[in-house]
Amino acid sequence: MKITKICCIGAGYVGGPTMAVIAKKNPNIKVTIVDINEERIAAWNDEDLSKLPIYEPGLAEIVAETRGKNLFFSTAIDETIKESEMIFISVNTPTKTYGKGKGMAADLKYVELCARNIAEVSTTDKIVVEKSTLPVRTAQAIKSILHNTGKDVKFEILSNPEFLAEGTAIQDLLNPDRVLIGGESGDAIESLANVYGSWVPQERILRTNVWSSELSKLTANAFLAQRISSINAISELCEHTEANVDEVAKAIGMDSRIGPKFLNASIGFGGSCFQKDILNLVYIARSYNLNAVADYWEQVIILNDHQKRRFSDNLISTLYNTVSGKKIAMLGWAFKKDTNDTRESAAIYVADHLLNEQANIAVYDPKVNNKKVQADLNYLNTRSEEENNDLVKSYSDPYETSKDAHAIAIMTEWDEFKTYDWEKIYNQMKKPAFIF
Ligand code: UDX
Ligand code: ADP
Repeated sequence: MKITKICCIGAGYVGGPTMAVIAKKNPNIKVTIVDINEERIAAWNDEDLSKLPIYEPGLAEIVAETRGKNLFFSTAIDETIKESEMIFISVNTPTKTYGKGKGMAADLKYVELCARNIAEVSTTDKIVVEKSTLPVRTAQAIKSILHNTGKDVKFEILSNPEFLAEGTAIQDLLNPDRVLIGGESGDAIESLANVYGSWVPQERILRTNVWSSELSKLTANAFLAQRISSINAISELCEHTEANVDEVAKAIGMDSRIGPKFLNASIGFGGSCFQKDILNLVYIARSYNLNAVADYWEQVIILNDHQKRRFSDNLISTLYNTVSGKKIAMLGWAFKKDTNDTRESAAIYVADHLLNEQANIAVYDPKVNNKKVQADLNYLNTRSEEENNDLVKSYSDPYETSKDAHAIAIMTEWDEFKTYDWEKIYNQMKKPAFIF
């Protein structure tokens, strides 16, 4: 099928940057991103590019170049589905917070709603592309909804997982290690391969069956997260011996079989993918009664929770076993640098733990505002919104944030933190001053 119009449902961290790059590289394809969230669409359409809902280096420039030409943001979901030959489903698939599989399985209600929406309004044949990370065999559910409409419309379902990392999304999209397309129909696969083919060399476009594609995404994230938990486990051992974890990471990373990437010891990985996808993998393994497999991967999460806890425990014990009434400055709230995304950020859990010990927390993040910080803490439901609001304050200046603080905790590796006048910061802190 020749693709002239693409619709992407979901204007988030995946849909936004991915479609912006597809539009830039395919000037002859009209790309429309739709979302039910009117505020988000309005922000994508804002004249002022600093107001885009997602911060990603290089994204605003591409939006400036393509928006209104062949890239559009809209809330007209039905009309856009109707006119498009290819529809990407790029909605959120959070971990379920209720019912069967609570805390483990992916919540597919948003994906299912999209499939039903497509089934209802389509009057011509469509290629439907799963872009969101989905549990293995989700395509089956989408297929079953789309193939039982009673209409004379043909749907092909493809799995095309996204491997971009936030903070480097545009670079990752422009120069991907590989593009993965899983499907049954060769024609549909080639239609999508052609879209990517405008800038990705064909040998980097991998074609597989749908299930391999879905499982590869979960597996890739599980392997990456496993490396972090592995090095984080070694970091604890280093703290009890005279070994230095950076030296160990460098020494093992130079073994070409291991490689140097993803060996930075940290306060624990965050982000919307790693934890969710591993929990999902564990849930799927358990549902097939593969308990040894499930336990193996679950350990990656257990170690990650341990690492976050260890960080706050260490902070508290260093401050003479009490942080009650003390000001703790947290620099960074996003789950990594160069993004305004805070999903599963270690900072949230560290703050929550310190708040249980009655600390006063001062937060500064270059891209995250107070509303988001409060929402993240309120989502945990550990204490009332009033208490969170009382105990946690956000600042727009790092020097204000750290003034009179007993300790500074660096939560995100923002580059700008290295450029501060640290002597000035030290001088205005309570003594003895600590940094973690
Ligand atoms: C990840 C995958 O990398 C990407 O391919 C997938 O599409 C989505 O999930 P993302 O979550 O955006 O991307 O960021 P990533 O760079 O992988 O970092 C995840 C977390 O791991 C961050 O909290 C980061 O700080 C942490 N991390 C990363 C470490 O603690 N140590 C490392 O060495 C690398
Ligand atoms: P991701 O990181 O996977 O891109 P986000 O949460 O950033 O996730 O984005 C997902 C977007 O999908 C949100 O903006 C949300 O409003 C949108 N969305 C969810 N369900 C639907 C739906 N049924 N129709 C349209 N948009 C939806």
